[in-house]
Amino acid sequence: MKFGVDYYPEHWPKERWPIDAGLMKEAGIEVVRMAEFAWAKMEPCEGSYDFAWLDEAIEILGREGIKTVLGTPTPTPPIWIIKKNPEILPVNRDGVRLGFGGRHHDCQSNPTYREHIKRFVTVMARHYSNNPHVVGWQIDNEFGNSHQSLCMCDSCSVAFHKWLENKYETIEKLNEAWGTIFWSQTYSMFDQIPMPLPTPNGHNPSLLLDWKRFASDLIVDFQKYQVDIIRRECPNHFITHNFMGFFDKTDYFNLAKDLDFISHDQYPMHFRKNRDAIAPSYRLAAILDLMRGMKQKPFWIMEQQSGPAGWETISSTPRPGQLALWTYQSVAHGADTVVYFRWRSCLFGTEEYWHGILPHHGIPERRYEEIKQTINELGPVMDHFKGGLPESEVGILFSYDQEWAFQIQPHHFELEYISHMLGYYRAFYDANIPVDMLSEEQEFSRYKLLVAPLMFLTKPDLTAKLEKYVAEGGHLVLTMRTGVKDWNNAVISKILPGDFSPLVGIKIPEYDCLRDIDQSVRWAASELYEKVEKVSKWADIITLDGADALACYTEDYYKDTPAITQNTYKHGMAYYVATELGPEVMKEFVSYAVNHGGIKPIMQTPQGVEAARRKGNDGDYIFILNHNPKSAVLNMPLGWKAVIGEKFMRGNELHLSQYAVAVFKSEQV
Ligand code: GAL
Ligand code: ZN
Repeated sequence: MKFGVDYYPEHWPKERWPIDAGLMKEAGIEVVRMAEFAWAKMEPCEGSYDFAWLDEAIEILGREGIKTVLGTPTPTPPIWIIKKNPEILPVNRDGVRLGFGGRHHDCQSNPTYREHIKRFVTVMARHYSNNPHVVGWQIDNEFGNSHQSLCMCDSCSVAFHKWLENKYETIEKLNEAWGTIFWSQTYSMFDQIPMPLPTPNGHNPSLLLDWKRFASDLIVDFQKYQVDIIRRECPNHFITHNFMGFFDKTDYFNLAKDLDFISHDQYPMHFRKNRDAIAPSYRLAAILDLMRGMKQKPFWIMEQQSGPAGWETISSTPRPGQLALWTYQSVAHGADTVVYFRWRSCLFGTEEYWHGILPHHGIPERRYEEIKQTINELGPVMDHFKGGLPESEVGILFSYDQEWAFQIQPHHFELEYISHMLGYYRAFYDANIPVDMLSEEQEFSRYKLLVAPLMFLTKPDLTAKLEKYVAEGGHLVLTMRTGVKDWNNAVISKILPGDFSPLVGIKIPEYDCLRDIDQSVRWAASELYEKVEKVSKWADIITLDGADALACYTEDYYKDTPAITQNTYKHGMAYYVATELGPEVMKEFVSYAVNHGGIKPIMQTPQGVEAARRKGNDGDYIFILNHNPKSAVLNMPLGWKAVIGEKFMRGNELHLSQYAVAVFKSEQV
């Protein structure tokens, strides 16, 4: 199963289903995902089940050789459940109970809701366990999405208290860890501890971080509750969930653990004001690398954009070539299966304008043809690298705890964990150097260079793991605000960067939040020239203690003091970047670190043309992806043979029109 669609037979008359199945087959579709919002149709009132319609849809698709992934419909409890048990409705952070009428109107800790789920999911799973066309399950849909700040109801309050008690064991330990002596917040019992509802002033940062961790664990637990039912009832089916890239409500590394593989929903174009109209290609690549990093395994795209996105407002229309381009990019970064959202644009409901492969009228047009052609071309090649992965010598450590800690205390109004991290990612991406994203639990030693951005929170075993990595020859990049706090989000009383000091060979006696202050750094490490560029948000003020300076600040009272340092430590190297760099100095720094680490790019490409590599069972594959809205020309290195896009070759030159793609295979095995 390499290509699929998200299908909603319940939105269309039965007579249409065989037509859809035929068109799917003609396009090369081999799998559909269905039913993740169809609870009301499967159980119209308590205990009365109707799977006949879904059985029939599965059968009609099955006759065309199309398999089914079923979603558990738990994001949409029907109205009869809500009327019977209104306590299931979630409470937002203003203490207001949200109403029925959208989706995810459910509290995930609520025991009554869990009982409804147990009843329904057990019956559904049992019904489909032996259906020959059903291959697997998606639990719920996009956990955390449309949950806003998650639920602050009485049930969640109790669950929070239990979670805290489990973590701290005694209230004295919690008081100590959070520093509740501050502002007379000392507690004598766990059930006195508030949820972060509005207060006259800000909450304790340790409480806020534990709340985010609790909320994340609650989602993991909610998923596990359903995973257990399905594993028991359907031992031969796989279980997955559709993640949302950089979404931040759940620690996805934890959510991934109970799944056979993860899936991801990739929407490059967006329709709302506060988002990029189209995500830059490096961001899309970084998201895909993070998704692969969840289990360091191939993954599925469960929803790949297939038309203009939209609710009340509408995104641009994907240009000819873009649907193909995004598909190729997903596969290049490790997707084994791509499922398009959605098969056909719906005639009603909130997502009327979230366009599918087919337009509202249901007659195949341009988008259908483009996807059909993509499947035709790419499908056969994908057989060779199924299960194989991109191979990276560079790792970026990704941490939800650090991200959350900076959401609670961003320091500077514009400081964001993701965009700070992406500053590094982008420099590797622009140089066609593949990157893995990994969690602190994964193995570091396979990487020549590891970037651990904003290691604000620390814990002894992680510090020791990083020290060992460098001691044994690894090259490590640490950045500003490292070593400031303990894992409970309280400040450590050591000279910064605390226990990392010997590793990086520096001390940080002072720092400067760059509020309306112009600061720049001078990169002087390349012998031939200097580069001066603005930096932003933050400046750690460094005293060298064994390290060398690679760049210095250019302004103010700490002018000429180090801003980027390098320290040889045992068999390895530790860099410290004390500020948020601009793109030019970042490029210099990354190319310096890459050269010193002995890391080679895949190849050279013009701006906006991505080269990505994936391992196949018969050699390596390189994907060349032109993300530019204009044509591009590049030289293909020797030793690569075009397997897709041969028509774009003129001698050794590859001429790609706008959004065009080509795939090459290594000639030597
Ligand atoms: C996803 C979601 C789908 C659909 C789609 C378009 O986030 O999983 O169910 O809502 O977006 O809005
Ligand atoms: Zn709740």
